[in-house]
Amino acid sequence: MNPDKQDKNAYTGKASGRQCWESPSNIALVKYWGKYPGQIPMNPSLSFVLKESVIRICIDYDIKPEYSFKLTGFELNGQQNEGFARRIESFLTGIQTHFLFLKHARLKITSESTFPHSAGIASSAAAFSALALCLCSIEAKQLGTNTKNREFLQKASFVSRLGSGSACRSLYDGMVLWGESEFIHESSDEYAVRLDNERVHSDFYTLRDAILIIDDGTKPVSSSEGHALMHQHPFREVRKQQAHGNLKKLLLALSGGNKKLFCEIVENEALSLHSLMMSSNPGYLLMKPNTIHAIDVIRRFRVSTNIPLCFTLDAGPNIHLIHFEEDRQAVRELVQNELKDFCKEGKWIDDSMGNGPKQF
Ligand code: DP6
Repeated sequence: MNPDKQDKNAYTGKASGRQCWESPSNIALVKYWGKYPGQIPMNPSLSFVLKESVIRICIDYDIKPEYSFKLTGFELNGQQNEGFARRIESFLTGIQTHFLFLKHARLKITSESTFPHSAGIASSAAAFSALALCLCSIEAKQLGTNTKNREFLQKASFVSRLGSGSACRSLYDGMVLWGESEFIHESSDEYAVRLDNERVHSDFYTLRDAILIIDDGTKPVSSSEGHALMHQHPFREVRKQQAHGNLKKLLLALSGGNKKLFCEIVENEALSLHSLMMSSNPGYLLMKPNTIHAIDVIRRFRVSTNIPLCFTLDAGPNIHLIHFEEDRQAVRELVQNELKDFCKEGKWIDDSMGNGPKQF
């Protein structure tokens, strides 16, 4: 199903104004790795959004029938950002069939991120979901439709995906699934869906993420390059099966409140993702020595205390230490006493599961 149900005759005339959204980053527990043309994922992924790691975007728009599309400005944290501006311009050009007004729009985009400066955290999920929400709001205003309904968020997720795959999972609170899975009938490769509350034990709404900034430098291999290497990967088919299997187990852990199984799957996904990178052709390593030291400490701490905590990694060296609200103090002490030493200039972010995007 394509959530893009716009009436092709809806665009008529002039409009101008401003739409603003704040949208979060998300952390995947089952990883999206590898994609087909059109940003269709090779396997389903599951994540939750963060509270502190967000981007706020405003689009000032001016639409006139005689205009043709133009991005008149793009600013990130008060500064021009050429690299990001080009990516956004090509995104906006590519999605004009989904928003007829875009063909006649002049847009000025300003954005502000709350991510600490050069934290080494991917901001594209937050940025593309916020952008998609602003565009959907401009459209809703023109068509006089509601921004609170299911279709609105579904289209925003669909459009976000076209900017960056993982962005489509930033639209909802709770646990969010992107990619077709036989276990969730409403799941789709084209947009993400929120898991119903009855599928998730209440403990999992208290998840926290202590983000350890091991390194904040530029990565030697980007996520896009990594996804591309999956096409010829010798383990590609096995990886797809593994992701479906891990999703099944994670869904069981979530519904049954099984924290031990949850931790096992989350770590297996993180290490599998990095093994896929190492066994790509050419192979590469994004973990740093301090990533491994920190993993070792986290695992020893879990064994000695029985506290259910686990690590996950995105396509980079930084560690997301996933834990529950009730263990927040113990984790703070672990970070302060042992893990901070492995972080670049002692940097870490005390984040938690968030409530999803907000219009402002
Ligand atoms: C390792 O969504 O950044 O974080 O679709 O090319 O923009 P593009 O890739 P991106 O890939 C994220 C990969 C990951 C795992 C995940 O978030 O599921």
